[in-house]
Amino acid sequence: ATEPLVLGIETSCDETGIGIVRGRTLLSNTIASSMDEHARYGGVVPEVAARAHLEALQPSIEAALAESGVALADIDAVAVTSGPGLAGALMVGVGAAKALAVSLERPLYAVNHLVGHIAADILDDDAEPLEYPTVALLVSGGHTSLLLVRDLTTDVELLGETMDDAAGEAFDKVARLLGLPYPGGPEIDRAAASGDPTAIAFPRGLSRASDMAKHRYDFSFSGLKTAVARWVEQREAAGEPVPVADVAASFREAVVDVLVTKALAACRDHGVPRLLLGGGVIANRRLRDTALERGAAEGVTVRIPPLSLCTDNGAMIAALASELIMSGRQPSTLAFGADSTLPV
Ligand code: KG4
Ligand code: ZN
Repeated sequence: ATEPLVLGIETSCDETGIGIVRGRTLLSNTIASSMDEHARYGGVVPEVAARAHLEALQPSIEAALAESGVALADIDAVAVTSGPGLAGALMVGVGAAKALAVSLERPLYAVNHLVGHIAADILDDDAEPLEYPTVALLVSGGHTSLLLVRDLTTDVELLGETMDDAAGEAFDKVARLLGLPYPGGPEIDRAAASGDPTAIAFPRGLSRASDMAKHRYDFSFSGLKTAVARWVEQREAAGEPVPVADVAASFREAVVDVLVTKALAACRDHGVPRLLLGGGVIANRRLRDTALERGAAEGVTVRIPPLSLCTDNGAMIAALASELIMSGRQPSTLAFGADSTLPV
């Protein structure tokens, strides 16, 4: 098959992402974020995100076309994230994608956001082609999911996910209770640099033997967040200073430890020597280093696409649709809608 020219639209959370790919080649990847508007609330506000998408879509599409030197009329197909994500935010992208596909008279592909994160890897020029099966760990402010990918277009299995907060959300909430600004991930990272990760033994969620039987690949971070809050409160009540660096380092260690331990357990259980990382939390160097080190010790090759492809973006959505087209998949009918809990 010839290489399709695909425009992808991603609006599942706070990033308005427009990406253009030809086959497996990245042509442009524009991202407009409403993160600054959410900062004063300490987290993403759905209504604010939806309105920001509405405002950012048209200029973002124009910017992506300009960046790639592609004319709108030359686009072969339109792709859009239909879920999972914030309902209102998704709806804006789905509406825009339908309008674009209808007006251009081009096929429209509705795709899953999580599978899109996996497809991001295809656009990484510096890496060897992705081999299957592979285990994928996706960690962001909105999701924490462990998947087994036997085939990108036909066989992606959700092994487990968070039962409460997403990993990035936990970073944001703990940063807040330490008095650090939003988004909390980079702030905790900075504070942790001078701290001792073994200073405080914070809990590893769903890691006890009894939990592992039922929730082997699931995550829980709300207990950890509460443990940090309690620890800080006790120090303050005793009139002692809070060692922010040690708390940040110990908290980060607890999150990283449980993420990497469960991801490598999935690799071992399924006899899969490959682990792909994705999502904005991958910006965390401690997480990358721990995954690489412990992966190497267990014979697991860890793949980490460039950060611009790991955070939410439209290029990964276009890349997934491009794979679907090249594998002969028929386009979606216009009957689909935004589905905030869309399964993989
Ligand atoms: O994928 P992403 O850009 O957006 C969505 O969640 O949709 O991820 C953002 C999340 C935020 O929760 C942020 O605090 C977290 O990723 N994050 C980090 C780091 N950089 C960003 N978490 C831990 N360490 C970091 N260095
Ligand atoms: Zn995402």
